[in-house]
Amino acid sequence: MLSPSRKGKEKAVDNDVDGFLDINPILTYRHLHAKNPGVRSPFRVVALCDSDAFYAACERVRLKLDPELPLVVQQWDALIAVSYPARKFGISRMDKIRDAKQKCPDLVVVHVATFREGDPEPGYWPNPNTLTHKVSLDHYRRESAKIIAVFKEIIPEAEIEKASIDEAFVDFSIPVRNTLLERYPILAEVPEDLDTPLPPAPAIDWGDLSAVVPVNPEADEAGPSTTPEPAPTWHDVALSIGAELMAKVRKEVLERLGYTMSAGISRNKFLAKLSASYKKPNSQSVLRNAAIPGYLRPMQFRKIRFLGGKLGKALAEEYDASTVGDLHTISLDEMQRKFGEESVWVWEVLRGIDRSEVKEKSVLNKSMLASKNLPRPVTKPSEGIHWLRVLASELALRLHEARETTPGLWPKTIVLHTRRGWQAGRSRQQAFPFSRNLTADVVSSAGEKLWRESVGTDATAPKDMKVTHIMLGFSGIAALGAGQAGIEGFFTNSNSNSTNGEPSDNQGEKCTRCGAQIKPLQELPSDVDDETREAAMVGARLEHEDWHFAKDLARQPPTSSPSPPHSSPKKRKSSSSSDAGNGKVKKRKKEPVGIAKYFAKK
Ligand code: CTP
Ligand code: CA
Ligand code: CA
Repeated sequence: MLSPSRKGKEKAVDNDVDGFLDINPILTYRHLHAKNPGVRSPFRVVALCDSDAFYAACERVRLKLDPELPLVVQQWDALIAVSYPARKFGISRMDKIRDAKQKCPDLVVVHVATFREGDPEPGYWPNPNTLTHKVSLDHYRRESAKIIAVFKEIIPEAEIEKASIDEAFVDFSIPVRNTLLERYPILAEVPEDLDTPLPPAPAIDWGDLSAVVPVNPEADEAGPSTTPEPAPTWHDVALSIGAELMAKVRKEVLERLGYTMSAGISRNKFLAKLSASYKKPNSQSVLRNAAIPGYLRPMQFRKIRFLGGKLGKALAEEYDASTVGDLHTISLDEMQRKFGEESVWVWEVLRGIDRSEVKEKSVLNKSMLASKNLPRPVTKPSEGIHWLRVLASELALRLHEARETTPGLWPKTIVLHTRRGWQAGRSRQQAFPFSRNLTADVVSSAGEKLWRESVGTDATAPKDMKVTHIMLGFSGIAALGAGQAGIEGFFTNSNSNSTNGEPSDNQGEKCTRCGAQIKPLQELPSDVDDETREAAMVGARLEHEDWHFAKDLARQPPTSSPSPPHSSPKKRKSSSSSDAGNGKVKKRKKEPVGIAKYFAKK
């Protein structure tokens, strides 16, 4: 049932079930002239820009191929990227190479670059083999950095947050406000009472720059639109200026680097991301406030990030619901009674509310991980040394590259994580002492020491040992010799680990998948410095992820292949690269907290 999207202001939030309360605010001079348009500003303009078929585009540009050629990127016998021309042949990432070639005999197939032991750099080898090679995504990382550099050059006043290897959020609020005041001098004449509503907004010519999401998509599908267009608001004008800026950046990236991108422009990160896929490729879409209810209501809520897993499943079962609209009948009170206080974020996200900030994440204090799933498990510790060396050279190379932009970077800690067949994963870490030359050998010998302590030697390890996954990583990466300002920035940044923008306490952070509190492996003193805390958290996050991995496996029918842990919706605050593959771990007990408690009761 579709209820009117705007309700009277007199209704209290928690009694209102439909709850699209804030989509038509009265915009005043105070809103427009606020010194810092924060996450609650009704003038926010946020975009998400995602590169089209990114790895395929990187290979196409590297090989200087015609953009119209059907091309796929291969990793072992799977496809990891499919160009849009190849998609026209019905090829998708699900296909095996052989099937893809059958669908399109002229398909250009490029295998992703790989590392071999002993090589300082990855390469494009004729017959890479998962038993001896390890995937390298370095080329794609470098191209990604070039794209971000263009963003920063073209829109220096916007805040840019890299969200993954091929996407970035952009907060246009400040440059958009500047343009509004320039173009519409009447807005710059501030009346005595700042709370005076702004004059009516002018009509907007959207041109062919953007696809504009309609207010009533269902009615429009049925025939020529009978829905009267709502009067434009100043926020719509703001979105149209954001769209102009986005189009300009996309054009520059295409001209200079050869990549097409698709973008979504709306009032927050959640809606920007959702609308980015409205029209692809090489397109951008605008989701105005008035179009939010019509866009969200028919959507399958389990497609929403963080609602895809067991929380989404529980919501579906509890309320016999599948679309976002179905859940609009559930009041905030009711939801919180069943799913805990913190489920307010679910209630809000279903109404297009998201107050998370767009904020550039510093390279400092991050972790850097390299991992390999072992199709042929390691059964003797000495066999694993080969993989440690491969992972060590990848880490050394990546740290060297990171130093090109931030000189003097050095990790505080090195971590080794292994998973053994049916057993739970285990982590071991130690301080990574500074040495003048960062070579793969230095990293490798630190890794080997951890390996001997954790896995053992051929003489000490259990006979039936089977290591199915190895991860070597750096954590607490900081710039040595950075000035005081840098160090302070580093301390303030490192406390905001949680993805929902909620602060984490000193002893842990919340899992975005199940809401459980992830605690450091060992109790930390209350005045612990943030580097040590971050180092302790890396192992804890991996263990928690392993636990999810085990639960996911347990849920899957035996015939389907398990999803690798890196595809879980939880984003670790790190950049990792990992080969997809199989692994099995035993379930482990954890005390449930928050939303997880709900599941424990069932
Ligand atoms: N990727 C991957 N494994 C996944 C998802 C993505 O290796 N499970 C890689 C893809 O190879 C891709 C890049 O990450 O090129 C970005 O992913 P995504 O944006 O989801 O897909 P694209 O290939 O860029 O295609 P689209 O145009 O639909 O964004
Ligand atoms: Ca993409
Ligand atoms: Ca993407």
